[in-house]
Amino acid sequence: MELQGKTIIITGASSGIGAAAALLFASTGANVVLGARRQGELDRLVGQITQSHGNAVCLVGDVSEEAYNQELVTLAEQQFGGLHGAFNNAGTTGDMGSIPDMKTETWQEVLAVNLTSGFFAAKHQIPSLRKSGGGSLVFTSSFVGHTIGFPGMGAYAAAKAGLIGMTQVLAAEHGGEGIRVNALLPGGTMTPMAGEDADFHAMVRGFHALKRMAEPAEIAQAALFLLSDRASFVTGSAMLADGGNSITKL
Ligand SMILES: NC(=O)c1ccc[n+]([C@@H]2O[C@H](COP(=O)([O-])OP(=O)(O)OC[C@H]3O[C@@H](n4cnc5c(N)ncnc54)[C@H](OP(=O)(O)O)[C@@H]3O)[C@@H](O)[C@H]2O)c1
Repeated sequence: MELQGKTIIITGASSGIGAAAALLFASTGANVVLGARRQGELDRLVGQITQSHGNAVCLVGDVSEEAYNQELVTLAEQQFGGLHGAFNNAGTTGDMGSIPDMKTETWQEVLAVNLTSGFFAAKHQIPSLRKSGGGSLVFTSSFVGHTIGFPGMGAYAAAKAGLIGMTQVLAAEHGGEGIRVNALLPGGTMTPMAGEDADFHAMVRGFHALKRMAEPAEIAQAALFLLSDRASFVTGSAMLADGGNSITKL
């Protein structure tokens, strides 16, 4: 029960990695505060967790809006008495295309959802973690923009690389207050974001030393480690859970 009694915000909880994290964290004792835009998916997940005697609440909203990030923190404090961590995980690839062909609106949307959301999250979560005497933040970055230049994903790569830079600064700024901040870099993971094209999946599998894509629950385990006290001396890292895609050249 690594997260027993801890209250953790999880964004992007309606699907994929975030949904797997919600189930895993709740099963290890966390009170989870779930965020995404789809009410039905969040309600189903809250029902599943509470039926298993876990503690979960949800709030629908858009992570690119500052007020929503603040409201998630307020909900955590009001419902469970404080905040101990967050898995800031919501993300979107946006419309893919080369930079010269990319609409400015696409660039702005992808940066807003993947990167500016991280700024809003940290801005409102850190004061709450301070009140709890410390805590742990995890931002979902990606191998895209770090170890692989994936054609068509310029805005996404810029946003995910930006999260790593912000993570380092946050870790340096708040380490003395007992607040750890890390970026988690999943490899290709079988979620709706990866689509349903079998040829594409086969190509992505080939990038990885393990010759497969991850299950969402495997990435959730890495996030659990970073949020738990097992990672008590881990901060400012860009932690790969990438099936070895960063070291694969053949
Ligand atoms: N799958 C991969 O291969 C892979 C690899 C590396 C990194 N990642 C990263 O992992 C994270 C989770 O992605 P996933 O693979 O689990 O994909 P997913 O199943 O498509 O989940 C994305 C989640 O983000 C939420 N979301 C998207 N835009 C949002 C917004 N504007 N406001 C609030 N929530 C929003 C979605 O919920 P709603 O639609 O309900 O809002 C959904 O819950 C993302 O940051 C992604 O970039 C994925």
